[in-house]
Amino acid sequence: MRCSTLICILVIGQGWATPIANTTTEGEVVVQGRVLYTGSQLWKTRNVSKEQIKVLAELRDENEISMWGGNSTALDILVKPDAVNHVKEKLNESGITFEVVIEDLQKAIDEENPTEIELDDRRGHRLTWQAYHRFSDILGYLDYLAETYPDLCTVQTIGQSVQGNPIKLLKISNGNPGNKAIWMDGGIHAREWISPATVTFIINQFVSNFESESSAVQNIDWYITPVLNPDGYEYSHTRDRLWRKNRKGGGQCAGVDLNRNFGYRWGGRGSSKNPCTETFGGSGPFSEPETSAVRNFIQGNGANWKAYISFHSYGQYILYPWGYDRVVPPDYKDLENVARKVASAIRTTGGSHYTFGPAANTLYPASGGSDDWAKGSAKFKYSYTIELRDNGRYGFVLPAAYIQPTATEALAAVRVIAEAAAAA
Ligand code: ARG
Ligand code: ZN
Repeated sequence: MRCSTLICILVIGQGWATPIANTTTEGEVVVQGRVLYTGSQLWKTRNVSKEQIKVLAELRDENEISMWGGNSTALDILVKPDAVNHVKEKLNESGITFEVVIEDLQKAIDEENPTEIELDDRRGHRLTWQAYHRFSDILGYLDYLAETYPDLCTVQTIGQSVQGNPIKLLKISNGNPGNKAIWMDGGIHAREWISPATVTFIINQFVSNFESESSAVQNIDWYITPVLNPDGYEYSHTRDRLWRKNRKGGGQCAGVDLNRNFGYRWGGRGSSKNPCTETFGGSGPFSEPETSAVRNFIQGNGANWKAYISFHSYGQYILYPWGYDRVVPPDYKDLENVARKVASAIRTTGGSHYTFGPAANTLYPASGGSDDWAKGSAKFKYSYTIELRDNGRYGFVLPAAYIQPTATEALAAVRVIAEAAAAA
């Protein structure tokens, strides 16, 4: 289905009525409605100073690069194809050292997800945890669970996305009336594919081996939404692999960043009023159906909420409130202690190093996050955003072979949080 630049030009040259190749305002090439990242490069910059950050910010504002992640000691930037030489000059000029991590992002995207998967020995559902699956496969899996394990699993729809996709919630419960409750979600950000894959992996472990889990895990009511942003998730599969927001509106400035749309300290630092940016917080707190579905369910449910866990990628962080500014809640020591145990469980399980700390201090200030709302408004004792693998070797385009190792570590993390919730 790929179309080399040459062939596209030939086709247009033959005078087709509708051009099949054009460019976005961001400068990416679009072929048959799909954004191509041919020639875009991922660079890792090292030890950028405050002065040097300004150079990068300028390049970003001129649309030559976009910021992916990392921190000042190792900051990942995506360099647009036409800007490679100019950005190289600029960085050399200002003494910013860097290495090229991905030479051609489109190639990495093409290799990320195996297309032909053996589904033969599947019974009743299509998930494999060897590939990133479409939304319909994930929904099918949830329905399969509800049918196969009716005493343990129930599925309900807690709302509809902007485009009318169902936001489905799986409840796993042994029905013990004294149970405490944990909320878990994935896929708030569309392009972070490892998040829904990890959440469904954890579900699968819990449900298929329920009796071998600890009594803490068994005596919790689990409320789990693997894909909170289904429109964006599908869009990242079919149109633009790097789409982050939901799909409110249309055109060049579509989408609200759902993790800036929650209603605790909405609109503050690290969120934007400009719809055309990646961190647009929406027209008001909970303006989006995806976020208000979460609020309505949690507030209306009457569960004994103890822990909120939101899975994102990437960077390998365990973050707790606050995210809106560089301050911490009064009981932050409790959150810190559990985060430390989580990091060490991850380390023991799979060897990965996860950094933990309050979100704004550890990463950057960002207001309107789900974690802050869970702690600040919904009064969850424990609230975490877990940024999964990796550390910027592949970034958002983490090959599917990493699903199982990443999710196995995350499972260990969730078990630790379950112990803390059980004792809270
Ligand atoms: N990468 C996440 C984001 O930018 C981090 C969120 C951390 N939490 C927060 N409330 N800032 O949305
Ligand atoms: Zn995210």
